[in-house]
Amino acid sequence: MKQPTPPRFPVTSLRLLCLLLVPLGFVAMALSLSRSFFVPSYVLSGCLHGVPRCRSVDTDDGGVRRGAESTREPEFRLLVGVMTTPRRYERRAILRLAYALQPPAEAARVDVRFVLCDVTDAADAVLVAMEAARHGDIVVLDCAENMNDGKTHAYLAAVSRLFAPAPYDYVMKADDDTYLRVAALADELRSQPRSDLYLGRGYAVGDDDPAPFMHGMGYVVSWDVAAWLSANDEILRRNDTHGHEDRLVGKWLNAGGRGKNRYNLKPRMYDINWDMDEFRHNTIAVHRLKDNHRWAAVLRHFNATAGIIKPSILQDHS
Ligand SMILES: *[C@@H]1O[C@H](CO)[C@@H](O)[C@H](O)[C@H]1NC(C)=O
Ligand SMILES: *[C@@H]1O[C@H](CO)[C@@H](O)[C@H](O)[C@H]1NC(C)=O
Repeated sequence: MKQPTPPRFPVTSLRLLCLLLVPLGFVAMALSLSRSFFVPSYVLSGCLHGVPRCRSVDTDDGGVRRGAESTREPEFRLLVGVMTTPRRYERRAILRLAYALQPPAEAARVDVRFVLCDVTDAADAVLVAMEAARHGDIVVLDCAENMNDGKTHAYLAAVSRLFAPAPYDYVMKADDDTYLRVAALADELRSQPRSDLYLGRGYAVGDDDPAPFMHGMGYVVSWDVAAWLSANDEILRRNDTHGHEDRLVGKWLNAGGRGKNRYNLKPRMYDINWDMDEFRHNTIAVHRLKDNHRWAAVLRHFNATAGIIKPSILQDHS
């Protein structure tokens, strides 16, 4: 059995956080139904009063988290924000398992959170609230759900406020059709600078090197870069958040002279073409897992279930 990890925040402040966030969360959710109020971004931390999982932010059975399970301090902390939409309940369930059953990242603490905009549908509001209460891994941003209208900006800008009490070293944006091999990524990050970093699969534009922006399947910026984005009012003033989100991230960083430590993880992060391609050796991320068959194929290939599925789990012959 895993040893329980010690709390990373003082329990009192965590309780306080829970007490503050949950009512705020539900109020904000209720308000969001009427759409005319300012709704602050918040983390649905899953800390309902009287629910044993109120410490879920810190425990292994709460928010999906892999990482150094030992009591040793991690060398760095990575937040992975998976962009998804309220209706994708099944995808989130698969992703939780896919992350939870991976080998832990050596030396890193990795927290995976699902990132939503306002949950406007009344049924989703209830179901997502329950999911958040159970898993404690859902972040709701102050935005209307969208593809190319600023959700990525809202996420990167919100992170440094939402997690200010316990900053991460790195912030990642990932798609919900990306399988990320956390240990491989953490291994790569371990030797990278902790600041001014922009890492992912570089998007090739001619022979540009370094790449002008990173492919949306998943990329990492260091905390200072996210904080800089958050403080950069110019982007919003110029209404420069509409359009191809990931290209825009590169544009902002290039214009601001940020992300100069730029690392291209191509070919270890890739789109897979199901008719022609094979999974690559040393994969960090595979993208375009659009249905359950593809998820099954990728999980099988990377041995996600090797050694953990005993015949008796699936079939009881006794
Ligand atoms: C911002 O840009 C979008 C897309 O180009 C446009 O629809 C919107 O009206 C603009 N907003 C403002 C306040 O100019
Ligand atoms: C999965 O396990 C098999 C058998 O142990 C091994 O040969 C293979 O290399 C593993 N695959 C990966 C991607 O690690």
